[in-house]
Amino acid sequence: MDKVLLVTGGSSDVGAELIRRVGNNYDKVVCHYHASTGVVEGLRASLGDRLVPLRADFGSLEETEGFVQAVLDQGLAPCHFVHLSSDPVGSLNLRFSKSSWADFQHELDVAFRPAVLCCQAFVPLMAKAGGGRVAVMLSSHVQWEPHKAYAAPYTCAKHALLGLVKALSAEYAGKGVTANAVSPSMIDTKFLRGSEHVKEANVMASPLHRLLTVEDVVPAFAYLLSPAAAAVTGQNLAVTGGL
Ligand SMILES: NC(=O)c1ccc[n+]([C@@H]2O[C@H](COP(=O)([O-])OP(=O)(O)OC[C@H]3O[C@@H](n4cnc5c(N)ncnc54)[C@H](OP(=O)(O)O)[C@@H]3O)[C@@H](O)[C@H]2O)c1
Repeated sequence: MDKVLLVTGGSSDVGAELIRRVGNNYDKVVCHYHASTGVVEGLRASLGDRLVPLRADFGSLEETEGFVQAVLDQGLAPCHFVHLSSDPVGSLNLRFSKSSWADFQHELDVAFRPAVLCCQAFVPLMAKAGGGRVAVMLSSHVQWEPHKAYAAPYTCAKHALLGLVKALSAEYAGKGVTANAVSPSMIDTKFLRGSEHVKEANVMASPLHRLLTVEDVVPAFAYLLSPAAAAVTGQNLAVTGGL
């Protein structure tokens, strides 16, 4: 059976760096993307047929369910699952009183629902096969005290994902499947396009006097997927440069 890594949001800056770093450890890498076809083409150029790009708009339940089914139909159920997708655009730096239910629903649809549906389909198969890994991207929004203001839909979806990680880690402890999270502070990626003032404020707040890079963050995922982390589960690893 092929050793498969599935990355939802594989087209993110973090996802592309992770796939470049660990992709060669797998027979197949299923790279989910939404709109970033150029990123996927770049990964295809370096990984060749090892990379299986699969497009889905997770804002749509039908497309999300179709994505999961396509993975199963192609015999690509992963032993390792990394979940990165998120689309808070418009609801970052937004007052709670100004955010609508649609902002919450969209972030839950793109960030939380695909994680639940993928885990429901793939985690029991991992356990049956003797083991597997789930690694989920959260944010320092679930680590920091005092807590971060003006991003309620994003923060709520990330907390929901933390709940999923904890629930899975408890339910699958002893079955070889680990579930963990990584919570970075601000990373310089396309996510922050057009948010220069937010970036500046975060540079000033950081003990590193800079934003994180994807190279700062990806090793945490690589570790959680590695044999060295076989006994680590239910954890939320902060990568914040000391914030
Ligand atoms: N940048 C930061 O400061 C920071 C800090 C902490 C945590 N994070 C987290 O890191 C993860 C990756 O973010 P990033 O910074 O690397 O930013 P990014 O490059 O903008 O990544 C966002 C990802 O979500 C996907 N996505 C967006 N809308 C979607 C939709 N409707 N359906 C399906 N997929 C959709 C994007 O796909 P396409 O590109 O193909 O459209 C992309 O793969 C996110 O979970 C984010 O919350 C980021």
